[in-house]
Amino acid sequence: MAQHTPPKPQYVAGVMGWPVQHSLSPKLHGYWLNHYEIQGRYDHLPVEPENLEHALHSLFLNGYAGCNLTLPHKTAAMDYIDHLTDTAKEIGAVNTIVVQDDGRLLGDNTDAYGFIKSLDAQCPDWHTHIKHALIIGAGGAAKAVIYGLKQHGITHITVANRTLDKAKDLSPNACTLKDIAPHIAQADLLVNTTSLGMTGQPDLDIDLSSAKKTLIVSDIVYTPRQTPLLQHAEKQGLHTVEGIDMLLYQAVPGFKYWFGITPEVTADLKNFILDEVKDT
Ligand code: ATR
Repeated sequence: MAQHTPPKPQYVAGVMGWPVQHSLSPKLHGYWLNHYEIQGRYDHLPVEPENLEHALHSLFLNGYAGCNLTLPHKTAAMDYIDHLTDTAKEIGAVNTIVVQDDGRLLGDNTDAYGFIKSLDAQCPDWHTHIKHALIIGAGGAAKAVIYGLKQHGITHITVANRTLDKAKDLSPNACTLKDIAPHIAQADLLVNTTSLGMTGQPDLDIDLSSAKKTLIVSDIVYTPRQTPLLQHAEKQGLHTVEGIDMLLYQAVPGFKYWFGITPEVTADLKNFILDEVKDT
């Protein structure tokens, strides 16, 4: 009798983090694998910090084409990667790893790409009128957003952060959250890169009444979809950019690296992922 062995997945990737069970990346890549009829797999890869080096070096032996990295591994992983893209070096963090044919690891960061594509998608002519960007927060997400904006010629960037010294590390134009008011009046783009406004976190309490009518307000938080900041901005009649788009677009380069197709971010995909986050 003929033996039936399951077909070996042609492509395997995953998301490595600790904890990682909450990650939406398997849903997102699973949607695309299904849509493009690719016989592949995208796994949750729970890896404790002390096992990170071993887990990364096991990717090749376990047949992985690569993986995404999420908290708390995005910076620590840089020590164990053979080649970092300039983008990953500049941002100081890796969120996408590609296992090369010889087993060496390439580390990239696609957060800046995801952020810029979210602006392109929700505000196509954004770069024509943004001169001054006001970034709230000074952590890893802020670094990616600032890098993306600088790559697109936006050089006047003010960073507002609870801890002033961290803001100063990212820009000579820095202030605390308490002193943000005059910067709001001058900004053409405002981006929240902190977790404030996320379900279960305090709100980002800022007053947009002095803002220019043309201010674009972007929030990288996507649970809830409409954060209090975005609701406040909409009430003021301001243009808003939701965080969900950045989540979807940052995944595009990874899918292309591992599975060979540049996947599309569609309204159907967005609804599919929003269904996952709507109750959070
Ligand atoms: P990420 O990599 O997601 O950006 P991070 O590096 O921990 O995360 O940075 C979190 C950012 O959110 C920081 O700018 C942090 O401010 P501090 O530098 O003062 O810590 C900001 N943040 C987090 N919780 C905050 C809170 N309750 N109030 C104000 N800012 C907060």
